[in-house]
Amino acid sequence: MEEAAHKKIIFSGIQPSGDLTLGSYMGAIKNWVALSDEYECYYCIVDMHAITVRQVPADLRRRALSQLAQYIACGLDPKKNTLFIQSHVPAHAQLGWVLDCYTMFGELSRMTQFKDKSSKNADNINAGLFTYPALMAADILLYQTDLVPVGGDQKQHVEICRDIAMRFNNIYGDVFTIPEPYIPPTGARIMSLTSPENKMSKSDKDPGGCIYIMQSPDDIMRCFKRAVTDSETGHCVYACPEKLGVTNLMQIYSVCTGKTMDEIEAEFDGMGYGAFKPAVGEAVVETLRPIREEAERLMKDKAYLEDILRDGAERAAYAANRELIYGALTDMGYACARPDGAFYLFLKSPEPDARAFCRRAMDYDILLVPGDDFGCPGYARLAYCVARSQLQRSLPAFRKLAESYGLSK
Ligand code: TYM
Repeated sequence: MEEAAHKKIIFSGIQPSGDLTLGSYMGAIKNWVALSDEYECYYCIVDMHAITVRQVPADLRRRALSQLAQYIACGLDPKKNTLFIQSHVPAHAQLGWVLDCYTMFGELSRMTQFKDKSSKNADNINAGLFTYPALMAADILLYQTDLVPVGGDQKQHVEICRDIAMRFNNIYGDVFTIPEPYIPPTGARIMSLTSPENKMSKSDKDPGGCIYIMQSPDDIMRCFKRAVTDSETGHCVYACPEKLGVTNLMQIYSVCTGKTMDEIEAEFDGMGYGAFKPAVGEAVVETLRPIREEAERLMKDKAYLEDILRDGAERAAYAANRELIYGALTDMGYACARPDGAFYLFLKSPEPDARAFCRRAMDYDILLVPGDDFGCPGYARLAYCVARSQLQRSLPAFRKLAESYGLSK
């Protein structure tokens, strides 16, 4: 518990707007698993982002549960990682709105993903599609996230999140941790197998271009055998900007086998694409096989998956509300009500030692508890969850305490 309190924090998420692809596995999930021992991790199924494009309700529900099964099957232990659905934690929407008000029209207009998606969905360019990055910033900032592991296409979104956080902090003080992106050296941009100048994407209309985690081995092999390469006569396997298809296949092979590009070039020297393409297919089949089998097994136990989601939402809501209530909302000047009609108040201790601060508060008849027990060192919590009227009575005492520290807020 003590150790967990000192771990740095990761947040990342994937939209259940389509089935999980090899691209999202290599660009994101594989790294989530690799980083999960070292960090305290929140891995989310971002279903609120998914509705910026029209979804079939039953499909969206099925995919969200299946995505959870695939997260676990990829190696994310639900006991060690907080796995949850974004819409189960209303604080995301709450902070999302607040950050909308600190995000500029101009900067949203420059987002590549907005330009791309609005050109593809010309009949539904809705406000959510436009303000998408502010909600994504809320996802990240709500947990005081240090690191955001994503594929290369999300770098711009993490950058705008940093800009929003810095803008907010410049006005209200040190409210949000400024997150860093983590973009893997290999696999950050897996390209379509049929049009390697485009990113592999779940919204790809061409069925052969995208590989899915849950796809059957036969299908996967078929796609790789048909993968677009180039018309170079020697069929030499080496990476260069003119050989986008081959370079992409080498990247995929590298992520699956751990081999470097030089090692791969040497391995297929003189063998041609006829041998290379099925070898990449085999490597992908073997990487995905245990994941698919485990996800299929988990999908049969819906009650287990739903328990994980309940537990995940509870843990995430706890952390999110703590940050939201102490951080953004109170600093902005809101009084914070919980839905059950009670208030929690979190204060950052003005002294390095939160315990000493709590003892001092007792002089004012205010009962505070140091925050270490809820993973929040340096903070103090009003010890009782009071009803509105009681809080009103406590506020003057709080004000006196704050004044005694020279705090005017
Ligand atoms: P999404 O759902 O499009 O993609 C999920 C993750 O997979 C990565 N990815 C890829 N990486 C390499 N090659 C590819 N072809 C490929 N396709 C997808 C993405 O970079 C991403 O990491 N906006 C996000 C979801 C989101 C989020 C967040 C992410 C919402 N809130 C907070 C991080 C933190 C998105 O649309 O990802």
